[in-house]
Formats: sequence, structure tokens, C-alpha cells
Amino acid sequence: MASRSLGYQLLLGLVISASYPVLGTRTKEKIYIDLVTQNACFRILNGTHQIGCSTPQGGNVGVVHYMQTEEDWDWVINSGTHTPYAAVLDSVNFTTENVRKLSQSNRVNGIIVISINLTDQEPFSADKSCPNDASGMYDGCNKLQWNPPGKGLMFDDFGLAMFSLTDENDYQKLIDKCYIPFNKPQDGKPRSYPLCAIQLISAMRGAKDSETCIRRSNLVTNLNPSKYCDPMGDENIITTLKAVQNNETRPNDSVIVVATRLDTMGIFHNEYPGADSPVTGLVTLLATAKALWSQRKFILNQPNSTDIMFAFFQGEAFDYIGSSRMVYDMQKDIFPSSATTAIQKINLTHIHQFIELNQVGLRSDNNSLWLHVDEKVINETKSLIQMLKDVSTPNATLTEADPSGKQQLPPASLQQFLLKRPDIPSVVITDHQHEYTNRYYNSRLDLPNHIDYRNDNFTDEYNASTALSQRISALATTLARYLFTAATGKNPTNEQLDELEADITEVNHMLYCFLISPQCELFNTVVSPTDAASLTINQVTQLTRAILAYYTGEKVEGVDQESQCGATDGDKV
Ligand SMILES: *[C@@H]1O[C@H](CO)[C@@H](O)[C@H](O)[C@H]1NC(C)=O
Ligand SMILES: *[C@@H]1O[C@H](CO)[C@@H](O)[C@H](O)[C@H]1NC(C)=O
Ligand SMILES: *[C@@H]1O[C@H](CO)[C@@H](O)[C@H](O)[C@H]1NC(C)=O
Ligand SMILES: *[C@@H]1O[C@H](CO)[C@@H](O)[C@H](O)[C@H]1NC(C)=O
Ligand SMILES: *[C@@H]1O[C@H](CO)[C@@H](O)[C@H](O)[C@H]1NC(C)=O
Ligand SMILES: *[C@@H]1O[C@H](CO)[C@@H](O)[C@H](O)[C@H]1NC(C)=O
Ligand SMILES: *[C@@H]1O[C@H](CO)[C@@H](O)[C@H](O)[C@H]1NC(C)=O
Ligand SMILES: *[C@@H]1O[C@H](CO)[C@@H](O)[C@H](O)[C@H]1NC(C)=O
Ligand SMILES: *[C@@H]1O[C@H](CO)[C@@H](O)[C@H](O)[C@H]1NC(C)=O
Ligand SMILES: *[C@@H]1O[C@H](CO)[C@@H](O)[C@H](O)[C@H]1NC(C)=O
Ligand SMILES: *[C@@H]1O[C@H](CO)[C@@H](O)[C@H](O)[C@H]1NC(C)=O
Ligand SMILES: *[C@@H]1O[C@H](CO)[C@@H](O)[C@H](O)[C@H]1NC(C)=O
Repeated sequence: MASRSLGYQLLLGLVISASYPVLGTRTKEKIYIDLVTQNACFRILNGTHQIGCSTPQGGNVGVVHYMQTEEDWDWVINSGTHTPYAAVLDSVNFTTENVRKLSQSNRVNGIIVISINLTDQEPFSADKSCPNDASGMYDGCNKLQWNPPGKGLMFDDFGLAMFSLTDENDYQKLIDKCYIPFNKPQDGKPRSYPLCAIQLISAMRGAKDSETCIRRSNLVTNLNPSKYCDPMGDENIITTLKAVQNNETRPNDSVIVVATRLDTMGIFHNEYPGADSPVTGLVTLLATAKALWSQRKFILNQPNSTDIMFAFFQGEAFDYIGSSRMVYDMQKDIFPSSATTAIQKINLTHIHQFIELNQVGLRSDNNSLWLHVDEKVINETKSLIQMLKDVSTPNATLTEADPSGKQQLPPASLQQFLLKRPDIPSVVITDHQHEYTNRYYNSRLDLPNHIDYRNDNFTDEYNASTALSQRISALATTLARYLFTAATGKNPTNEQLDELEADITEVNHMLYCFLISPQCELFNTVVSPTDAASLTINQVTQLTRAILAYYTGEKVEGVDQESQCGATDGDKV
């Protein structure tokens, strides 16, 4: 289990430090300007290693140097006499190679990347070229490196501070008030004192590995315990179409799982735009659930209809934390919950099919989506694939990525299930046939403008239909139609076909809320003010849960307080 350090301070104090050497004594005069930027690289621990960044309690102090020319690199890395430096990089120059070069020079104790006006970015991913290579079902990515821009920068252990500067005013303070007047070389000549330095504080108390850190946390016995680390914990979100009670049985192979992930990652705390991954997938799945629920009663009334489980996994970027937990619980026969006996448990033998959505927004030709299948289940999955292709809609054309299955699956939660039950008919749906079309996977650059969200000229962003929302709706419609037929064995009537159409208005709203601003009507509708506290824990999880409940819940008349709710605990949201 990986752990994240608690109690770190996200303060970035710009210290303008003017020192005058006078007859062997120094008069120090310090002027502090606080920057509002809060996005620090942080410390993460796993069972054996530590990765990320940390500074001593007081922070690191480095002389600000804005890296603009070859001479700047030479100065900072080789010849400059005012070490240590705090290197300021334009976003395009924040490459894995450059960061490693600075870090390995031992002359730099802080890196600040300017994350303003992020256009024309080179491909960048903080993840590895083979994400989650150690925990999947294959021996790494021996057939295909899925994420070529990924060089694993996230997994380096840096002995320095790293911040992403996102505020235009901070930029002014750093460059115009500090670097240019005090430090910028003049006529190719370096400046001498006074110089402007920056104090970068991102002190993390966790160190070494999870075991050490948890042990230290447990040692603390006073009344005001300070925790050294906290587990990287959260929840998966699931819902099933049927509520199978304990007096009924769940036949083997009777649950279709439709899944996606909720998380992304990046080097800097608070900077996880996650546009193609996970937002496109989770919005598609929510829209699918809403469309399918229009036929819930009909499906439940069909004899022997299959159940459908929607699953949103959390923590997948770090060795599939969420899906591996679900598989573990299923194997122990305590899924979905050990706390309630009212609902029938679901285990791996109950799974009939597994359909996963990964990145689905960035289709190279605007329409094509790809079905990835593992070679071992290619025969079992034939009919699933054929049916999916049959219900494809023009803006969501589904094609096999590799009909032989030899290409293997991309990194996906499904791998955790196939590891334990290798014969589940299953597909992963993505926007890439081979390597990722998303060139900014798991990084601060997986931005809305990189998935064409804002290519359209619209004035009413919240309500506007875009090419992206049309494509996402088309996929949700396709999936809802597929699930209807797969669950009932029937083709929908014309009227049912219409009702299974995804609601593009809701897709527009979700995209706006998740990608542009959480201050939006939909979030205000689904989250009550009393939920505000829980939103500080993980907004995406809580909001997804709330939207799912809003789309799939049954309205109970005359109940307006939780205490009046008569549902069993396992049924409450
Ligand atoms: C911890 O992370 C390091 C670096 O990413 C990796 O080499 C190591 O195998 C991981 N250890 C465990 C127990 O997962
Ligand atoms: C920054 O990146 C740009 C574009 O790749 C390049 O032209 C420029 O030389 C780089 N600057 C530095 C200082 O590395
Ligand atoms: C960002 O773009 C705005 C508008 O084009 C410009 O005024 C500003 O100087 C840019 N900021 C940076 C840091 O490039
Ligand atoms: C199971 O119990 C519920 C009430 O608790 C009842 O409505 C339902 O008909 C029962 N189902 C079967 C198969 O007995
Ligand atoms: C369900 O599958 C399990 C494991 O394959 C098997 O032991 C069990 O007998 C099956 N149950 C039924 C009702 O077929
Ligand atoms: C439902 O399944 C049971 C047991 O497999 C079978 O006996 C019955 O005929 C099925 N009913 C229909 C309508 O298919
Ligand atoms: C899964 O549940 C079925 C029926 O509920 C049972 O027959 C089977 O033994 C269980 N399998 C495992 C691995 O627990
Ligand atoms: C995708 O659609 C946009 C406009 O809707 C168009 O400008 C672009 O050329 C299309 N891309 C491809 C690869 O067809
Ligand atoms: C799939 O079916 C084909 C032909 O029916 C067979 O040759 C092949 O061995 C099967 N593959 C697997 C993995 O079972
Ligand atoms: C966007 O639309 C408005 C009004 O429809 C128009 O005035 C404006 O020029 C358009 N902008 C672009 C960039 O196309
Ligand atoms: C979206 O459209 C609805 C209905 O047309 C309207 O009431 C609402 O004000 C619009 N929202 C925004 C943010 O423009
Ligand atoms: C497909 O998307 C395009 C825009 O990308 C839209 O004009 C068209 O109406 C959509 N077609 C369907 C069937 O939804």
C-alpha cells in the first residue's frame, strides 16, 4: 500500500535576500514576498521506496535563475558561482531530461515550472511508458509501449523542491521583481550581490518507505498525535441494476460489469486536470447509466435477465489500488460489503462479461473507438464484440484494435480480474488503436483544450453541445443499447431505442463541471451544503457518487431527511 505524507506545508515564500559583505560581517536585510502558488511536488511512499519531493522544515533557498538560453544552462549546471540555484523553467522546457539534468547536477535545490498559458506543449507524461508495469497480467509491455511520452518522472526520488507556478501575479513577482532586476545576466556577464533568492518549502515528514512511516506514526503517544503519513485511501463507487436479496440466488455468470476509473496523477499536488483520463470515461459511464435506467423496470421484469454493475475504480494510477481491492473482496466473498447481510454477495464466478472504458475522448479520426481483447479470451469474447459492433452509432464506431488479440490489453483495471479469473469475456474500449492518442496521459497537461473541448465557438459553455459531447453521447448510447440487449436477450423497440439515447444536455453539463468549473448548476443540484465537508476528501469520488445517485436513484416521496430513510444500510448512498 502506498502512502502519502501528511502535514506538509504548501507555502512558497519568495524571499528577496540582499546581503552586503562588509569587512567580514554581513548585514542582512530580508524582504519576503509571499506567492500564492500552492502546487508542490510531494512525497509518496510504497512498501520499499520513496518517490517525489521533500525539503527540510525551513525549506530550500536557491538563487533564482530563469532558464532561457544555452548559456543559462551552462551557468546553472556548471560554472555559476552562487549555488544553490532555484531554476525557473518555461513549461515546454520542463522535460524529464531537463529535470533530471538539474536534479543530478547537485547545484540546484529547487525547480519552478511556469504553468501559465499552456499551449503548444511537447508531449509529456509523468507516468511510465508502460503504466503500472509491475502489477498487470503481462511481463511489462513486451508487445507495445502504450505511453511513449512517459519517462517515469513521477517515480523519481528528488532531493529538491519542485513547484508549478500557476498564478499570473506570482509570475510577475518572480520574474519582473526578482529575476530581471537582481539576477539576470547583463551583457552576458553574471550579476553579483545582491541577488534574489527564493525559499521553497514543501517539507514532508514521511520518509524511507510505508512501513517505517506507519510505525513512526503509531509511536506517537501524546494527546496531540501528529501523523507522519496517511494511506492513499478512497473508495470505489458501484451500483447494480438489481437489488438481489439474500432469499434469492445469483446464478453464475449473471452480472455484466461496466467499469472505468476515477483517478489520474501528476507530479504537482492540486494539478490533475484529467481530461481524457479519467473525465471522458467517467462522464460516458454516468451518461450510460442514466440512459439504461430508463429501462430498468422493463429489464427487471424479464425472466432471467442479467444484472448490470457499474463500477468506478479509484486509485488505479498506482498499481490498480481500487480494482485489486474489489477482486480481493470478491475472492473473500465479502463484496460489496461485509457489513450487511441483506444483499447477495458477488464473486468472480458471477461475472458474465466485463466492459471497461479507458480514455475515450481523443479519437484520431473523430469517431473511431477501439476494442482491445486479450488473446486468451478471444473466442469467449467473439459474440460480445459482434454485438457491440452491431449497435455502433456513426459518432462511435467500434472496431477491434487487433483481431488476433496478440497486441495484449492496454493497462486496464480488467487485468486485475483476468489475473484471478482468466476466462471472463471482456473488452477494453479506448480512443487509441495502438499507443495512446493522448500525449499528456497522467500529467498536469491532460487539459480540456488537448481533447478539443474548447474548439467550438460558444457563448454558453455550460449548455453548449460540442463535437466532444456528441461523441461521448454517441458512445453512451451505443453502450446503453448493447447492455439492454445483453441483459434481456431482446432488441429494443423503436420507442425503447429513443429512450436509450444518452441525454446530451447532461453530458454537456458534466463535461463543463468536471473540466471547466465545479461552480456549476449540476454540482449544486446533486450536492447538498451538508455534504461540503466530505467534499474536501476527494471531490471526484463524492461528486461521481452524487451524480450517479441522482441519475439512477428512485425518488421516495415524503422523505426529506436521512433518518426517515427506510432502506437497508447497504442500499443507502
Ligand atoms: C516501490 O516503488 C519502486 C519505484 O517505483 C519500485 O521499484 C518498487 O518495486 C516498489 N515496491 C513495491 C513493494 O511495490
Ligand atoms: C525550451 O524549449 C524550446 C522548445 O522546445 C526550445 O526552443 C528552447 O531552446 C528551450 N529553452 C531552453 C532554455 O532549454
Ligand atoms: C499569458 O497570456 C496573456 C494573454 O495572451 C499574456 O498577457 C501574458 O503575458 C501571458 N503570460 C505568460 C506568463 O506567458
Ligand atoms: C425475498 O424477500 C422479499 C422481502 O424481503 C420479497 O419481496 C421477495 O419476494 C422474496 N423473494 C423470493 C424469491 O422469495
Ligand atoms: C458456479 O461456479 C462455481 C465455480 O466454478 C462452481 O463451483 C459452482 O458449482 C457453480 N454454481 C452453479 C450453480 O453452477
Ligand atoms: C430461466 O432459467 C431457468 C433456470 O436456468 C430455466 O429453467 C427457465 O426456463 C429460464 N426461463 C426463461 C424464460 O428463459
Ligand atoms: C461464488 O458464489 C457462488 C454462488 O453464490 C458459489 O457457488 C461459489 O463457490 C463462490 N465462489 C467463490 C470463489 O467464492
Ligand atoms: C475532427 O473534426 C474537426 C471539426 O469537427 C475537424 O476540424 C478535424 O479535421 C477532424 N479531424 C479528423 C482527423 O478528421
Ligand atoms: C479459439 O478458437 C479457434 C478455432 O475455433 C482455436 O483454433 C483456438 O485454439 C481457440 N483459441 C483459444 C485461446 O482457445
Ligand atoms: C464566435 O461567435 C461570435 C458570435 O457568434 C462571433 O462574433 C465571433 O467572431 C466568433 N469567434 C470566433 C473565434 O470564431
Ligand atoms: C442552461 O439552459 C437552461 C435552460 O435553457 C437555462 O435555464 C440556464 O440558465 C442555462 N445555464 C447557463 C449557465 O447558461
Ligand atoms: C455526429 O457528430 C457531428 C459533430 O461532430 C454532428 O454534427 C452529428 O449530428 C453527429 N451525428 C449523430 C448521428 O449524432
